Amino acid sequence: MSVRMKLAAGNWKMNGVRASLSELRAIVAGAAGAGCEVAICPPATLIAVAANAVAGTAVAIGGQDCHAAPKGAHTGDIAAEMIADAGGKMVIVGHSERRTDHRETDEQVRAKAEAAWRAGLTAILCVGETEAERRGGQTEAVLSRQIEGSVPVAASADKLVIAYEPVWAIGTGLTPSNDDIVAAHAHIRARLAGRLGQEQADAVRILYGGSVKPDNAGTIMALPGVDGALVGGASLKAADFLTIVAACG
Ligand code: PGA
Repeated sequence: MSVRMKLAAGNWKMNGVRASLSELRAIVAGAAGAGCEVAICPPATLIAVAANAVAGTAVAIGGQDCHAAPKGAHTGDIAAEMIADAGGKMVIVGHSERRTDHRETDEQVRAKAEAAWRAGLTAILCVGETEAERRGGQTEAVLSRQIEGSVPVAASADKLVIAYEPVWAIGTGLTPSNDDIVAAHAHIRARLAGRLGQEQADAVRILYGGSVKPDNAGTIMALPGVDGALVGGASLKAADFLTIVAACG
């Protein structure tokens, strides 16, 4: 099996103004020498200024969403090319908040991942079941459907990261059991192997996301098949995020 460098990625969601860059600077300072990759995905208004702030450091900046098209009449949207032009290196696609708030389908998410690659960005593609789907024993079926529907067959491990984010764990303080996280990651990797071949599937990083906090990161990041974290709330405070970075390193 290939060695996968862990990734600690922060998703600031709709939080952060220019004054918040002090947290980013503290993250940059604290992450120097971290034994993992580190990325922050601020709101679109901050991508360019954040990319300037991290220039020359190991921290990468990413977007939280992109449109599938490179340009055009799509008021309010941004293209993957614009994220790249602003200095972004990656983009989250298919986050459950996009799938819910904006009714994004697997097909749209797949087109967004392809747009990310067209622009030279890494796609962090999110999948995960709702609480009702877990209670109904549908977790693996949902993950299979999302992987098959949203991961382009042309995907390769150097430009694709999967984030397993159970919807019911996001922002709730709840997390699946360790066994359930391990099982979900193994299931996702098996589905990726069916789609991309075993070698690529073994090299794709699968992050866990959903209420990753300083006090549970050590345990979750040590689980087999967990290659890092996608962190919402706890990425807004440098001290909290740096504890999670250390757990990934
Ligand atoms: P959370 O969010 O860490 O605040 O639960 C994770 C995410 O939605 O990416």
